Parts: sequence; C-alpha cells; structure tokens
Amino acid sequence: MKIYEMTDEQRRQFLLDHGYITVQQAEQLKKRQTISTDLADSLSENQIGSFSLPYGFATDFLVDGQEYVVPMVIEEPSVIAAASNAAKRIKNSGGFKTYPTSRIVYGQIVLEKITAEQLSILKDNKSKIWEFAQMAHPSLIKRGGGIVSLNFNQYPNFVEVELGIDTVDAMGANLVNTILEKTAKKISDLISGDVLCSILSNSGQGQIITVKAEIDFEQLKTSEMSGEEVAKRIVQLATFAKESVKRAVTHNKGIMNGIDAVLLATGNDFRAQEAAAHSFALESGEYQPFSDWQIVGNRLLGMLKMPIELGSVGGAIRALPMAQLSLAMMRIENSKQLQSVVGSVGLANNLSALRALVTTGIQAGHMGLQSKSLAVSAGAIGDEIELVAKELNRTKEYTIKNAENILLELRSK
Ligand code: MEV
Repeated sequence: MKIYEMTDEQRRQFLLDHGYITVQQAEQLKKRQTISTDLADSLSENQIGSFSLPYGFATDFLVDGQEYVVPMVIEEPSVIAAASNAAKRIKNSGGFKTYPTSRIVYGQIVLEKITAEQLSILKDNKSKIWEFAQMAHPSLIKRGGGIVSLNFNQYPNFVEVELGIDTVDAMGANLVNTILEKTAKKISDLISGDVLCSILSNSGQGQIITVKAEIDFEQLKTSEMSGEEVAKRIVQLATFAKESVKRAVTHNKGIMNGIDAVLLATGNDFRAQEAAAHSFALESGEYQPFSDWQIVGNRLLGMLKMPIELGSVGGAIRALPMAQLSLAMMRIENSKQLQSVVGSVGLANNLSALRALVTTGIQAGHMGLQSKSLAVSAGAIGDEIELVAKELNRTKEYTIKNAENILLELRSK
C-alpha cells in the first residue's frame, strides 16, 4: 500500500515497523499533543494557546548514500507528495550528493566614525581581541568551535569588527550575540569610544551548501511525453528563471516550500533562513534562482546552491518535543547532516514543480488534494470527505459552494 493511501494510524505503524520511530514516539504522535503552558511561556510572550499545523513525512530520500524519511510541517497541499515523488525518481537514479562547506556565522560589531588613531589601536590589538572573543564562550571551544576570523572592515561612515564564528551544531544566534556583546565592551574600553551595536549577520555566507542530483531521462517521462523531452523543457524553464526575476522568485518559492517545512518540523528559525536566502538570491546584483538544471548525456542534472541556516541542537530545538522527534526520525547526528537533508528536500520540491509545470501543469495534482480541504471546510466528516473530494475532482469546480452543494446532495440520499 502507498503511504498516501494509508490512514494516519497505518503511517505511524509504517514508521514504527521500519525503525524510524519508537513505540513511545508513535504514542506521542497519536495523542496530537500540543505544548505545555510552561513551555509556551518559556518560548515566547503573551501566549494563550498553541497553533497546530499538519505534521507529515516525505519518503524515499537517499542523501549521500543514507535513506531518510523526512518530517515536514506544512499547510499547503501537494508539497509533501511532491517532495516524495521527486525523491523517488532521484533515488532510482542514484540519490542526492551534497557538499556542505562550513558552519560559520558572521557577527558585526559596529563603530561609528572612529578616528585613525582608534582604528590603529584596534589593529594593533587584533590578537588580544581575538583571544578575548575566543574566551567569551569557553564551552564552544570544548565542542570544537570558536572564532575563525577577525576583520576590520571600513564603510563610508562606519568601521565594523567582523568576527567569523564556527558554531558547530548550534544555529548560533544566542552564542554569537553573547560573544559579540562581550567583545564589544572590550573594544569600547580599548578605544575609549562608543560601539553602536553588535549583532550576528543572517547573510548565511558561511553556511553555503551545494546539492546535486542526476536523474535518468527514463525517470522523467509522462504518459504523453518522453523523459528526454521533459528534461529539455525543465532546462528551458530553469533558464527562463535566470532571465525573469518574476519567474525566479516563484522558482525559489517552490524550493522554500520544502526547506521551510523541514525547518519548522525541526524547531528551527525559518525567518533566519528566509533572510539568508533573500540575500543570496541577490548576491550577483540581480535576483537569481537557487538551482539550475542542465542535460548531461542522457540524464538531467540539477544543482542547488544556497545558504542553509539551521542548528541541530540548542534553544527551541531542544525544548520542543516534536522537534526532537523529527531529528530522531531522521537520525540526525550533526547540523551539516541536517543541512544536507534540508537542501535535498528543496531540490526535490523544485524538480517536482518544474516537471509538473512543463507537463500537465500543477493544478491537476494541487486541486486533487485541495479538494479534501474544501470538503472539510464545507462541513464533511469521516467518509464524506473522500466522497465530496471525489465529486469535486470529477466536476473540476473547486469552490466551497460546489463542495457544500455536493455535501447537501450526499446527505439527502
Ligand atoms: C507553489 O507553492 C510552488 C510553485 O509555484 C513553484 C514553481 O512555480 O516552480 C509550483
């Protein structure tokens, strides 16, 4: 039986049978528990409840030789199905290969209009500042991280002390900001001057990853088109994204569909990721797509390159039980591994979107699933949902009014 044909109970059993979750975790999922008042209070302010979104998983991810099921939190129909669909085609062609670079977070200590004399004091004390910053968070050194660069950058009206910090498995916002604020104080004392502010940069420049996937033409064919033709049309559409900013943004939105869903499932700060992605898309001065597709021999080659800002330990990730469950389901051992999976999901969602767009269009698949949520919105319950959805798909009139009429008709029988 296909995963999408199973009930939620059967899906949990599938994960249990394949060793992705434990009996306790299956129970935890079944209870559909929200977070406690204490936890909510400790995470943010003015809490009055908790907000749920569907939690599902994508299948068939073969990333760097390891098989994954990938938990995703998303309210949009088709995204999980699209990720799984492309992942299977890619798995059948050898899987994803990923190339994470580093896990460096940059921080800025900003000084306003300092004198030449103050600047030379800073430069003369570079090793002292470095040493001080290094000692500002000793536990980071124990974990194998710490300061990896220190530069003095001059802007028209500002001087910046830029620290590069290896945050190992933490996303790093808190620890970087702690180091920066302590170091800023030291700098202020050294030059007897004011520091305007100190804060990490969300540029993600130190966290760029490349993900590659090669797909056999055979894996791309539809009932109406050969795999080669589909591949050529995908390349054309990806080329258009390099020429049209309007298209590039939508192309990237398809990638972010997958990336954000995994970041949410793992308790990560998806706003940081969005900010890093914006900055990277504009790196060349012109907004560009995060992925490119080419034909090599009789295969389609996809390559995604972008920053992926995340952590696999600390903060909300540690506190949220569902985030812990997600990491356990993927057997994540470090943040680079999680980056590799997240990047692969982004590329998978991109392939599925492009393949659908150049063949049948996305509405067929999209509305097929949307019809279920329309049925629920119209008041259908239990078995009625499937029946109303089926009828919506048959009439192809995807409106709430139509769903309500179908439901009325069904109940009058
Ligand atoms: C919809 O959420 C995402 C797509 O628009 C992406 C794309 O156009 O490439 C289908």
